[in-house]
Amino acid sequence: MIIGVPKEIKSNENRVALTPAGVMEMERRGHQVYIQSGAGVGSGFEDEEYMANGADILATADEVWAKAEMIMKVKEPIAEEYKRCRPGQLVFTYFHFASSEELTHAMIESGAICLAYETVETKDRQLPLLIPMSEVAGRMAIQQGAKYLEKPVRGRGVLLGGVPGVPPGRVLVLGGGIVGTQAAKMAAGLGAAVTILDVNLSRLRYLSDIMPANVVTMFSNEYNIRKLLPQHDLIVGAVLIPGAIAPKLIKRNMLKLMRPGTVMVDVAVDQGGCFETTHATTHADPTYIVEDIVHYCVANMPGAVPFTSTVALTNATLPYALQLADKGWQKACRENQELKLGLNVVQGKVVYKGVSDAFGLQLHGVEDVF
Ligand SMILES: NC(=O)c1ccc[n+]([C@@H]2O[C@H](COP(=O)([O-])OP(=O)(O)OC[C@H]3O[C@@H](n4cnc5c(N)ncnc54)[C@H](O)[C@@H]3O)[C@@H](O)[C@H]2O)c1
Repeated sequence: MIIGVPKEIKSNENRVALTPAGVMEMERRGHQVYIQSGAGVGSGFEDEEYMANGADILATADEVWAKAEMIMKVKEPIAEEYKRCRPGQLVFTYFHFASSEELTHAMIESGAICLAYETVETKDRQLPLLIPMSEVAGRMAIQQGAKYLEKPVRGRGVLLGGVPGVPPGRVLVLGGGIVGTQAAKMAAGLGAAVTILDVNLSRLRYLSDIMPANVVTMFSNEYNIRKLLPQHDLIVGAVLIPGAIAPKLIKRNMLKLMRPGTVMVDVAVDQGGCFETTHATTHADPTYIVEDIVHYCVANMPGAVPFTSTVALTNATLPYALQLADKGWQKACRENQELKLGLNVVQGKVVYKGVSDAFGLQLHGVEDVF
């Protein structure tokens, strides 16, 4: 198969959909890979490294899109890319269709086959192509939180790890899923005293078993949250109710329970956030203050660490991309239910319920489009 990897053009996006290691695997199986010049630079991969592993470098995005049978990207196509998709071309990337009616209509009109990273799903209902980014964001939440606890950026002025003779800082993690677990691990590793809250008792049991002694678990309810807020320096919002907006666990009137300079990192901002005072920020201006509480609410946290995020993402996407390249999308999706669930729009037809529901579009059976 001919695979094309254009440079990401969404603002501040430095990830790339295929690394030189991925190119090597593709070439080994007889596929041909075209990379747009400079596509990997933001993640630390120069054109020469791709070429050394068998890729051909093309100067423009138009050339890459024109040649490829399968386009591999990271972010959804933006307006100037719509016209580049053509009927029958496979596009494998994050789409998040339900959040953009314009994109949905553009892809329906393109006639392309849109296989979305975010809806590839395993039998046990995990989302294997979202997990790596949650892992990155969870770990980053502590790194960012620790930084914004410093006094010059209006934090409380607390060193999370403490020092001999001075107790460590305290970290409260709301939600013990992928993000929350990674955040708790990082905070515990720094020596902080960590509390994880969740509503899922079996998850709390698991976390209680595997976490080090400086992490304690508690059931999540408003009573406990109110009791814990005055004692913690850094609060991480990491709750998710699948398919729903995040519950507002910290209301505006609860901010006064915290000490001035407490930092709140709302990782769940992409689902509306779990603090009432959350609004999305960017890496260019990541924080704002409400009632002396520092809020960090960046919606694409992994974008700040593309060297790590690209490799984490492509470790997860490559096995699926290889199946698509080896078998073609029809055979690969017929034989692998996980991939089949990634099909959202196929040659003008919406085949994913979440997308048809979002915009009142006709839902086609996925079997009808093979
Ligand atoms: N900002 C970013 O850059 C970024 C990056 C990756 C993920 N995210 C977001 O982070 C959030 C968490 O993702 P995840 O992968 O960890 O999800 P997850 O499903 O693995 O974990 C969510 C956890 O929240 C718990 N929960 C639900 N309601 C709760 C409540 N009332 N109190 C406490 N816990 C509750 C669930 O039981 C679950 O354990 C999602 O909104 C995700 O989209 C954001």
